[in-house]
Amino acid sequence: MAILVTGGSGFIGSHTVLELQEAGYDVVVIDNLSNSTEKSLKRVEELSGKPVKFYKIDIRDREGLEGLFRQEQIDSCIHFAGLKAVGESVAKPWEYYENNIGGTLTLVDVMRQNGVKNLIFSSSSTVYGDPDRVPVTEEDPVKKCTNPYGSTKAMQETIFTDIQKADPEWNIVLLRYFNPIGAHPSGRIGEDPNGIPNNLMPYITQVAVGKQPFLRVFGNDYPTPDGTGVRDYIHVVDLAKGHVKALERIKAGCGLAIYNLGTGKGYSVLDIVKNFEEASGVKIPYEICDRRPGDIAENYCDASKAEREMGWKAEKGILEMCRDSWNWQKNNPNGYAG
Ligand code: NAD
Ligand code: WQD
Repeated sequence: MAILVTGGSGFIGSHTVLELQEAGYDVVVIDNLSNSTEKSLKRVEELSGKPVKFYKIDIRDREGLEGLFRQEQIDSCIHFAGLKAVGESVAKPWEYYENNIGGTLTLVDVMRQNGVKNLIFSSSSTVYGDPDRVPVTEEDPVKKCTNPYGSTKAMQETIFTDIQKADPEWNIVLLRYFNPIGAHPSGRIGEDPNGIPNNLMPYITQVAVGKQPFLRVFGNDYPTPDGTGVRDYIHVVDLAKGHVKALERIKAGCGLAIYNLGTGKGYSVLDIVKNFEEASGVKIPYEICDRRPGDIAENYCDASKAEREMGWKAEKGILEMCRDSWNWQKNNPNGYAG
């Protein structure tokens, strides 16, 4: 029996496929390659020494999924596939709802028709909106999101919750990721954004290799220690390992379970710049700019529920995250393009 990984050639997916293989699982990956390349999986194969079964299938393609379930013995699904750019989602809401919601509904329908009712879902800290207090716990309210991308995550959580309530044979783990950064320490797989990066760490690494002239710091007048935004950055390898732990919860028959995956520590934009400079030895020039619309002052989590119930805890600190992000970018200045 294999684990189906949707979106498995992407940033978090590729790291998770590697951790799954290292933990002894058989893995089947599907991806439409809209935001990734199969090269990431070739590198996973190099690292694990095991082949990765890959099918280029879109999660909205019902016939494609039905064929896949006929061909492969699937036991559980880890569902990463989706569009994830916040700004783009504001400009293209229909595309985001159609891909993320439509695709998820099709995937889940084909799964249940094949008697596969175990699923781990990539949710996001974005479902907490602008939280009333930090650190946020899983009991804190899910709030209205400021962008369609965030709304798709909150809606998908609702869909999964309702499906599991109606049919308790489902085991569903909703993992709320905080801010994933870093890369595999080998420097062979990592984050490879298209065009100009939206997120902080890939932007910083592009400044470091000279692809961007300087970092724009979006606001220094937030009510935080140094005025810049505070987030809970988590190493992507720790995050990937969280999925392996979540599979054990599924096997134990967890019903519906929700976990924050973060370190529980908040770092400001300037903290990240300082740690990156220390880890890489490269100076990052920056300018203070206006706040970015939709941004919040701070968000970091209480991750103790994942430790209590799954025995999972983030192990890698901020310097390691910066070192591995840099190692990936330095060795692959143009990502998988060479
Ligand atoms: P990514 O873009 O690298 O990976 C997503 C993958 O899904 C890509 O390979 C893309 O080609 C694929 N995909 C998109 N639509 C598809 C479709 N219709 N059919 C098949 N494949 C499709 O992004 P990532 O950072 O690895 O994120 C993985 C998941 O985690 C996403 O659901 C994302 O929303 C969620 N998430 C990411 C972050 C983050 O900051 N990176 C934070 C919280 C949650
Ligand atoms: C981090 C901090 C910025 C870029 C987004 C999504 C969220 C989740 C993770 C998927 C903030 C500041 C950034 C730059 C900057 N993704 N910044 N200059 O905004 O916390 O979350 O990614 O679910 O849904 O909203 O992450 O990396 O964009 O920003 O000053 O060039 O860095 O203002 O304080 P964010 P981020």
